[in-house]
Amino acid sequence: MDHFLYRNGQLHAEDVSIDEIARAVGTPFYCYSAATLTRHFHLFEEALAGMDHLICYSVKANSNQAVLTLLGRLGAGMDVVSGGEYARARAAGVPGERIVFSGVGKTRDEMRAALAGGIRQFNVESLPEMRALSEVAVEMGTRAPVAVRINPDVDARTHEKISTGRKEDKFGIPIARAPEVYAEAAQLPGLEVVGVDVHIGSQLTDLEPYRAAYTLVADLVETLRAQGHAIRRLDLGGGLGIPYERSNAAPPLPLDYGQVVRDTVGHLGCEIEIEPGRLVAGNAGLLVASVIWVKEGEGRRFLILDAAMNDLIRPAMYGAWHDLVPVVEPAPGVEMTPHDVVGPVCESSDTFARARPMPPVGEGDLVGFRSAGAYGAVMSSEYNTRPLIPEVMVSGDHFAVIRRRPDFDEIINRDTVPEWL
Ligand code: LLP
Repeated sequence: MDHFLYRNGQLHAEDVSIDEIARAVGTPFYCYSAATLTRHFHLFEEALAGMDHLICYSVKANSNQAVLTLLGRLGAGMDVVSGGEYARARAAGVPGERIVFSGVGKTRDEMRAALAGGIRQFNVESLPEMRALSEVAVEMGTRAPVAVRINPDVDARTHEKISTGRKEDKFGIPIARAPEVYAEAAQLPGLEVVGVDVHIGSQLTDLEPYRAAYTLVADLVETLRAQGHAIRRLDLGGGLGIPYERSNAAPPLPLDYGQVVRDTVGHLGCEIEIEPGRLVAGNAGLLVASVIWVKEGEGRRFLILDAAMNDLIRPAMYGAWHDLVPVVEPAPGVEMTPHDVVGPVCESSDTFARARPMPPVGEGDLVGFRSAGAYGAVMSSEYNTRPLIPEVMVSGDHFAVIRRRPDFDEIINRDTVPEWL
C-alpha cells in the first residue's frame, strides 16, 4: 500500500495534490511520500520482531539526504557501496556503528575513510580486498570488522542484469571456498571476523531462492563455528521485490520473508542484518511529468512527455514496467486507447512504454509513473543537457523541495575551457 491515491478526482501524495506541487516546482519532478517510506521500513521491523536485528537500508536505491535522514531517525542502519554513499549516510546523522560497507571494488581510500569515521562492518568480496583492508587497518592502528560475502550459486530467478548470487556473477566468494578464506581472515592482523554476508539479487518475487541461499548460509555458519570462528552476525542482503504492475499477482510480503529468515537461520543465535532498498523506497515515489505533445504516427499514437530516459532509465535499461496514471482521475467507463509513451531524448530507447492503454490526454496534462522511488533519481543523468529534476517530499498536508532543479548556468559552469584552446 502507498499514499498516492485519487481524492476528489485528483491524484494526491498523502494530503497534497500533485497538481499543486507541479504548479509550484514545474515538471518533471520526483515526489516521495514520507508516510510510505516510514510504513515500508516498519514492515521490515515487524517482519524481524523478536530477533536481534538491524535493517540497513540500501542507500543506492534512493540516496537523497532527506530520505536518509528520515530512515536514520526511524533507527535504520545503512548499506553503502561507495565513499560517497558512506559520506551521505554520515551526513544524514547515521552513526558509523549502523553502517555496513558492501561492494566488489572498495578502494583503500574508501576503506580508510570508513575506518576513520566509524563502521559496523565491511562485507568483503575477494582475497585481494581482504588483504588490503587488513593492511589499511594495521596502518591505522585498528582492526576492521568483516563479514565475507559468499556466493551461494543460487539463481534468484529475477532479471538477468540484477541477479548476483550465481557462480557466473562477479559477486562474493564461492561458498565452497569459504572455509579457506575465513581461515586466512582469522590470521590477518587487521581484521576481526564478525559474520557472513550474502545477497543474491534484486526484485525477487519468489521466496524459494532466499530459502535455498539462507539454508546454505546456515550450514556454513555451523562449519565455520566448528572451525573456531566466532560468527555472531548474518547479513542476508536485500532484494525483496515490489509490485510494479498492479494488475499482476503481488510478490511476497516482508512478513513472509521474515518467516523464511526465522525458518532458515533463526536457530543460530546470530544478529540479523538485512539490506532492503527497493521495497522501502520504490512505491514511495512517483515521477510526475507533463504531456508535451500527442503525435499521431503511422498506426500508433505517441505520448511525448517532458520526462525522459535520463530521468528514469529503468524501462530503457531493463525493459522495466512502470504503471502510468493520469493525475486527473479518468471518468468511469472512459475509453482507453493505446499510446507509445516516450520522452524527448534523441534515441529510440527513450521509450517508457509501448501500446499503453491511456484515457484521452492532451498537451499540458500531468501523468505519474508509479514505483519510481527506487533506482529512479539515483540513476538519472544530464544526457541531452537535461537538468537533473527536482525531488519533493510530502508529509501529511505539506511538502518540501529536497533537491532543487539546477539552472543551465550551473550545469555549463561546471565545465572549464582551457585557456590554451
Ligand atoms: N545489498 C546489496 C549488496 C545490493 O547489491 C543491493 C542491490 C541491495 C542490497 C538492495 O537490493 P534491493 O532491496 O533494492 O533489491 N538498478 C536496478 C537494481 C540494482 C540492484 C543492485 N543491488 C533496478 O533498477 O532494478
